[in-house]
Amino acid sequence: MNILLLGSGGRESAFAWKMSQSEQCSKLFIAPGNGGTAAYGKNVNLNPNDFEAIKKFALAEDINMVVVGPEEPLVRGIHDFFVEDEQLAHIPVIGPKKEGAILEGSKDFSKEFMARHGIPTPGSKSFTNETLQEGLAYLENHSLPVVLKADGLAAGKGVLICETTADAQSELQLMLGGKFGTAGSLVVIEEYLTGIELSVFVLTDGDHYVILPEAKDYKKIGQGDSGLNTGGMGSVSPVPFADEKFLKEVEDTIIIPTINGLKKDNIDYTGFIFFGLFKVGDKPMIIEYNCRMGDPETESVIPRVENDLVELFVATSQKRLKDIELVINPKSAATVMIVAGGYPGDYEKGKAITGIENIRKSLAFHAGTTQESGVIKSNGGRVLAVTSVQDNMFEALQSATADAARIYFDGKYFREDIGFDLM
Ligand code: AMP
Ligand code: GLY
Repeated sequence: MNILLLGSGGRESAFAWKMSQSEQCSKLFIAPGNGGTAAYGKNVNLNPNDFEAIKKFALAEDINMVVVGPEEPLVRGIHDFFVEDEQLAHIPVIGPKKEGAILEGSKDFSKEFMARHGIPTPGSKSFTNETLQEGLAYLENHSLPVVLKADGLAAGKGVLICETTADAQSELQLMLGGKFGTAGSLVVIEEYLTGIELSVFVLTDGDHYVILPEAKDYKKIGQGDSGLNTGGMGSVSPVPFADEKFLKEVEDTIIIPTINGLKKDNIDYTGFIFFGLFKVGDKPMIIEYNCRMGDPETESVIPRVENDLVELFVATSQKRLKDIELVINPKSAATVMIVAGGYPGDYEKGKAITGIENIRKSLAFHAGTTQESGVIKSNGGRVLAVTSVQDNMFEALQSATADAARIYFDGKYFREDIGFDLM
């Protein structure tokens, strides 16, 4: 079959790498892809949010399946666009329709969903410009720190943790005043959790689901988890502190109520659900849903999945996931992200990258790269994800970190401590 994968990051590189290994995949197109995805298929210069252009391409190339990597086309309704178009309706889309993607597209909706279905999550209340005064009063009596979340998509920047009441009140005003554009016209004020974070993923056809390997993402730019938040500086899978008992509790109290909740609410969901979790004591709580896989979690998760990914997607689109047994490699995967100097602030692009051929025990998943007449150049903040799969976590971390050091470009930076806190 001919498959169109939408997206351009490390997550899509890992998907493309894995899908290209499937016998069921005749042609793989990646739109727009990056400097590395061309090794697994054909890059196509299309914007994933330009649905009309995607339609034209899908018809011209006889596409049989569309796999959506990032959240934005899903929240904007690419799946609905396919279903509602006579010429496209026969093409399955992996990724939920708008009604499901709203789990990520609106934090207020997702908090209501969790409350409605009894899914453990920190307490919260939402406010708009009209209820600003109530919001300010609510903050007067709120415990500290307190978490403020823009309701809509804000490119990973819409969450603020405030240490003082005055700071929280001033941020609430700024957010409702347009600091994050319309994404912040509704703000969720949430209790702050103390615990350790991890990510759990399922692939669901709406009736059944398979649980993918869990992962831990490292969000801060600096060693020892210091400094600014980023899109993610590395990841590990499995997560040592997520033992069988804990993961069973995640399934019983979070995954199953979510899948059942979607059914009760008549939301027909096809695709990935990413559960952003905290382990508080030994109990799981959810802080967010995403309607897609995580990045850089995917780069650690997908290499541990032994099944044919295309077959998994076909089974998902045909509501046959109950017949699939997921086979997970028990080895450990570690991903170290190489980023541009200055990221997550201002950074330069267009730096020539050398040494990828020198890595020894890892896979290099391209993220922000381009290829110009055979030269790989940096083209984003997060440039390359270096993933190593080894017998144990320590070896995986050592290999990924050592291989990240073998790659060079002007200004390159990576964290040398990813995952070592878990040893
Ligand atoms: P998000 O953009 O929703 O992934 O949130 C960004 C980060 O904010 C998360 O990865 C957490 O580290 C932190 N965060 C979000 N909600 C809470 C919470 N209720 N308590 C503590 N930290 C939180
Ligand atoms: N790594 C976090 C995310 O993909 O949202």
